[in-house]
Amino acid sequence: MNIAIDGPASSGKSTIAKKLAKEFGLTYLDTGAMYRSLTYLVLSHGLSKDDIQAIVELAKTTPCEFKKGEEGQEVWLNGENVTLAIRGPEVTANVSEISAIPEVRQVLVDQQRAYIGRGRVIMDGRDIGTVVMPNADVKIFLTASAKERAKRRFKENQEKGLPADYEAIYQQILERDYYDSHREHSPLKKAEDAVSIDTSTIGIDQVLDKIRQIIHEKG
Ligand code: DC
Repeated sequence: MNIAIDGPASSGKSTIAKKLAKEFGLTYLDTGAMYRSLTYLVLSHGLSKDDIQAIVELAKTTPCEFKKGEEGQEVWLNGENVTLAIRGPEVTANVSEISAIPEVRQVLVDQQRAYIGRGRVIMDGRDIGTVVMPNADVKIFLTASAKERAKRRFKENQEKGLPADYEAIYQQILERDYYDSHREHSPLKKAEDAVSIDTSTIGIDQVLDKIRQIIHEKG
């Protein structure tokens, strides 16, 4: 069984995907972390966003690694633990632009598809149901109002000790929504056969119940 979860920033995708992975014994792939890791590399190498050749080279030669840590999944790049760094404001402000480069998407989508061969995967992102795993058994499209998502991200940042300015987070979410949905290649879009779940007013447990039911129906 393969599960695709798509949706805008902070719609709860990774929280839900991690819980489902544990419950159903699936490998979890956080594709957003892959775009964030590459953005972190581009910034730390001081590369221009126009230097597509160099960016693609980095994507090919320095893929991020996922490791199991004490507090959940960790992201590593070249022996450096970047789990927290890739969630920082600088990466968040630049990741939409890097992820809109078609050549970058080609490399990362190929890396993501390599996981499908192993079977039993759950991936979250923006184009999983439409491009990366069009044959996924279960496709979910999670949504929530921008205000609710900003509130969640604000709380999450406070808990992680990351910068937390509600208004700035809200504006950034609106910008990323726009950018991710309007880019030319693989924009954020619900797959025709995906089930939409609006999480604005329901809790994690209710979302999980709905998805369990969908999995059961497919099963
Ligand atoms: O889910 P996230 O916020 O960590 O994703 C970071 C960015 O990466 C997001 O703004 C859009 C991009 N992304 C993408 O284009 N395709 C994916 N499958 C996952 C993320």
